[in-house]
Amino acid sequence: MHSKTDTAPIDVLEDLLSQRFSCRAFRPEPVPRATIERMLTAAQKTASWCNSQPWRLEITSGEATEKFREVMYGVASSGQPNSGDFPFPREYRGVYLERRRESGFQLYNSLGIARGDKAAYAKQALENFNFFGAPHVAIVHTDEALGVYGAIDCGGYLTSFMLAAQALGIASIPQAALAFHAAVVRRHFGLGDDRRVVCGISFGYPDRDHKANSYRTSRADTADTVRFFGA
Ligand SMILES: Cc1cc2nc3c(=O)[nH]c(=O)nc-3n(C[C@H](O)[C@H](O)[C@H](O)COP(=O)(O)O)c2cc1C
Repeated sequence: MHSKTDTAPIDVLEDLLSQRFSCRAFRPEPVPRATIERMLTAAQKTASWCNSQPWRLEITSGEATEKFREVMYGVASSGQPNSGDFPFPREYRGVYLERRRESGFQLYNSLGIARGDKAAYAKQALENFNFFGAPHVAIVHTDEALGVYGAIDCGGYLTSFMLAAQALGIASIPQAALAFHAAVVRRHFGLGDDRRVVCGISFGYPDRDHKANSYRTSRADTADTVRFFGA
């Protein structure tokens, strides 16, 4: 049993990293504004190229979440083709394809969706546009002129956001799916043409009893991802 004073920072960080997961079923209760602001202030510490801090966020609560949900769910279920600001990966191959499949099957198995049931896959994918029932969604966008550097900075920000959320008992899920209809997002929030939609983050309190939250994804061994040179 650790007292507050003898808990090493690395223990705290490892706990947060281990406990965080992509939440795909939320409870409806909103997160108090002060808690959201504390999370944002912590995430704002993220490092960025030349300290440009290119991330900007549009965050919805209450009615605003419902309105945005209606718009996004409508577009996604209308069959309109995806048109994100950033190109979709050309191909998932080798180990990347294996990991993608494994995590997909984990989700489908947890929900009792049979392998190959494409209609059920599509129905579950649409849940992205229902924000998995979250009371809040954040849209993360960057400056067009910063290109991939701006997008990478937003990726770093995303991790800080999720860890700060976890530290405050808030569950979250990053959602590239919400950037698939970038022009719709820009129009909805009145964003300029110079803003590029990176992704969304749905957040709130987790529904811990929901089957979609019942599994955890695996990670490769560091021996498979890192090479050391020198002593
Ligand atoms: C940039 C980014 C975009 C993501 N987009 C989606 C998404 O659109 N829908 C979804 O269900 N999960 C999305 N995820 C969640 C990943 O599937 C998840 O992080 C991964 O499977 C690892 O699981 P974990 O987050 O539970 O550890 C995204 C994750 C990241 C980092």
